[in-house]
Amino acid sequence: MRLLVTGAAGMLGHDVMRAGERSGHELVLVDLPEIDITDPPAVDALLDRLRAQPGSLDAIVNCAAWTDVDGAESKRELAHAVNADGAGNLARGAARIDVPLLHISTDYVFDGVAPLDAGGRARAYVESDPTGPRSVYGSTKLDGERQVLAASPRHLVVRTAWLYGVDGPNFVETMLRLAGERDAVQVVTDQIGSPTWSGHLAPAILGLLERELSGLVHLTGAGEVSWNGFAREIFRQADVECLVEAASSEQMARPAPRPAWSALASERDDVLPMPDWRDGLAGYLAARAGMMRA
Ligand SMILES: NC(=O)c1ccc[n+]([C@@H]2O[C@H](COP(=O)([O-])OP(=O)(O)OC[C@H]3O[C@@H](n4cnc5c(N)ncnc54)[C@H](OP(=O)(O)O)[C@@H]3O)[C@@H](O)[C@H]2O)c1
Repeated sequence: MRLLVTGAAGMLGHDVMRAGERSGHELVLVDLPEIDITDPPAVDALLDRLRAQPGSLDAIVNCAAWTDVDGAESKRELAHAVNADGAGNLARGAARIDVPLLHISTDYVFDGVAPLDAGGRARAYVESDPTGPRSVYGSTKLDGERQVLAASPRHLVVRTAWLYGVDGPNFVETMLRLAGERDAVQVVTDQIGSPTWSGHLAPAILGLLERELSGLVHLTGAGEVSWNGFAREIFRQADVECLVEAASSEQMARPAPRPAWSALASERDDVLPMPDWRDGLAGYLAARAGMMRA
């Protein structure tokens, strides 16, 4: 396939590039300042140019986003321009040339109150659960989802969560850095989610495109854990000595509220589950070690 990847210089974009190259796809990689998805004429001109080239264009993967969750609280219009209207510009442009768009969204579209199963136990959010974002970032991403899905029945929105990869600042790196500086870290126990290694997510989303899935899909590392439990597993797998103390979200207040419950799972029978989040962490640490040796 000939794929356009927007936001290609970001954390997920890099892994989509690597996964696409491994699978033998032809990739057109763009990011700011070359292409700004908030600029509809620029988006349309790019799509027309690519469609006219030999090989045309088979699909678009949008990894571009405003990802500063706290910054979005005070810069609502800028976040909305990228996450909602920018996604919409790509989706409408793609629909115009009849090319499917795969767009990435987030667990922040939910309110963070765990849905319960028949036995009264917390269960992961599935695609049909009602949304209810509590942050500006979450509401701009939800608007983006709606614009994408309204533009074409061929488009696909993939919600993921707690993403980390070798090409971006992330929780694993923060924990490993702090462990080098102090004997103990305080990490919240009251936020639970599904850590997702972008090195696992990228090939999985390309698989969805290859199988021409459309609509809404949840895709994260399998299983769930608190940030505190994640930190413990990071130190265990990395063989690092550092005490992980319990903290609450109240103690660690940030400008944007974080969902207390973020576990996602797919209810679709055409979606293969991703590897367990612990396997994702092992893959990340191995990839990181490989990069340090190189
Ligand atoms: N990180 C997470 O924990 C997480 C969790 C769930 C879902 N997601 C979603 O996953 C996707 C990828 O996230 P990521 O962590 O890989 O993000 P990232 O590293 O911040 O990458 C996003 C890329 O988009 C670019 N960009 C921003 N505004 C743009 C614009 N107007 N036009 C074109 N490109 C633009 C950014 O460029 P600049 O750096 O120059 O701004 C950056 O290269 C996003 O949709 C995000 O919402 C992330």
